[in-house]
Amino acid sequence: RRVYVLNGPNLGRLGTRQPEVYGVTTYADLVALCEATGRELGLAVTVRQTDAEHELLGWLHAAADEEAAVVLNPAAWSHYSVAVRDACAMLRGPLVEVHISNIHAREEFRHHSVVSAVATGVICGLGVDGYRLALHHLALHHLARRD
Ligand code: DQA
Repeated sequence: RRVYVLNGPNLGRLGTRQPEVYGVTTYADLVALCEATGRELGLAVTVRQTDAEHELLGWLHAAADEEAAVVLNPAAWSHYSVAVRDACAMLRGPLVEVHISNIHAREEFRHHSVVSAVATGVICGLGVDGYRLALHHLALHHLARRD
C-alpha cells in the first residue's frame, strides 16, 4: 500500500529556513531521504509539500479514499487548523504526525497541536530523522508485506 508524506507551509524552504531550528537538510534532500527509505522498506512513498491549505485538504481526502497511510507535518497549521484536523479524522489508514523541531521546547503557541488527538502517533524534535522513523514504524506495524 501507498504512503503519502505530506508537508505543510514553509517546509519547501527547508535548508535555508531557520537552520538553527530546522537543520540544514534541504526540502529536496528530505524528499530523497523519504524516497530512499521507501525503497529500502518496500513501500511506495509519495512526498508532497504545499503552502495552500485547500491543497493539503484535497490530498488528505484522496488518502482517505485510498485507505492509504499518511506521514504528515502540518507545520503551522498544526496549531490552529480545525479543517486539517477534520480531514485527518476522516483518514482510514494510520497517521503519523511529524515535527522536525521539539514543539514543546519552543514558544507556548507551538505546544498544542490540534492534529495530535486524531493521529496514530506523534514524533517531534528528532529532526528529519522523524520522517524516516515514521516510515519504519508504518512498515513494521501497518504495512507489513503480509498485509
Ligand atoms: C514544525 C513546527 C511548527 O511549529 C512550525 O510552524 C513549522 C514546522 C516542525 O516541523 O518542527 O512550520 O511543524
